[in-house]
Amino acid sequence: MAELLPTAESIAREAGALLRDFYHRGVRTEYKGDVDLVTEADRASEALIGGRLRAAFPEHGIYGEEGTREGLDGEFRWYVDPLDGTTNFAHGFPAFCVVLGCEQRHPGLAANEDGQMIAGVIYDPLRDEMFSAALGEGATLNGEPIHVSCARSLDESLIATGFPSNKRHKSPNVHFYQEFTLRSHGVRRAGSAALDLAYVACGRLDGYWEFQLNPWDTSAGYLLIEEAGGRITHFDGSKFTLDSREILASNGVIHPAMEHLFADMFAGRNLDPILTPAEFAARRAAEGR
Ligand code: IPD
Ligand code: CA
Ligand code: CA
Repeated sequence: MAELLPTAESIAREAGALLRDFYHRGVRTEYKGDVDLVTEADRASEALIGGRLRAAFPEHGIYGEEGTREGLDGEFRWYVDPLDGTTNFAHGFPAFCVVLGCEQRHPGLAANEDGQMIAGVIYDPLRDEMFSAALGEGATLNGEPIHVSCARSLDESLIATGFPSNKRHKSPNVHFYQEFTLRSHGVRRAGSAALDLAYVACGRLDGYWEFQLNPWDTSAGYLLIEEAGGRITHFDGSKFTLDSREILASNGVIHPAMEHLFADMFAGRNLDPILTPAEFAARRAAEGR
């Protein structure tokens, strides 16, 4: 399967170039839900990726965000987000990417069981950054090996999250946003879940969490983070699966602190007091930092 990754990279580059053209000339936008946007670029990118995958791997299945569902009972399945960050894209905010992740599903696996992610790419066409990973072979950015950060504690970490495009009014995430913001260097909400995961893999971010993602958002990032030495789980540390509705990713070192904060918040326990700047400085001095 050595050809999987180079082929996925070449397809992602081609789809990225198509998105870049649409981005520079402007696109028509429609609503899929009350605030969930879709553009002609999302559909054109998925059509291009579907065509290229079918030609390269006629036996493989495809599961795309914009509706492609084919060959899903075979051994290999591609999860495709043809444009992750559509809201940014539609507003001219330069943070979006193309995502392809390949899962190997051994015969006999139940429909609700995960196979093994074996290849994943996340391509940012505006920065020409290709994040890639293959099972057991590590993760790279434009061909150079990447690794998660070495941040030692939550209070010295930069974290990211996102908010669902649909059912936003039901999302509890703003409460978590507040607590993580008060206990870290800050929380970024840049609007592309896949880029957030890629940034954890290469150490630009130390941690990330989100509710209600889909396998096309997470599949490639899942492999990238594991291959880059990080951790990816549910909020309570249990095993992440592709149909999980919650995701917690980190460099591994700050994972227990993030889990602890989720546990306290879900249990409604009193959280650690927020320190004043003077108290914070005193604590750091006491810790010898
Ligand atoms: C969205 C982005 C966003 C995340 C949303 C996703 P889309 O994907 O990844 O960062 O917060 O939950 O739905 O709709 O732009 O492909
Ligand atoms: Ca997405
Ligand atoms: Ca999308």
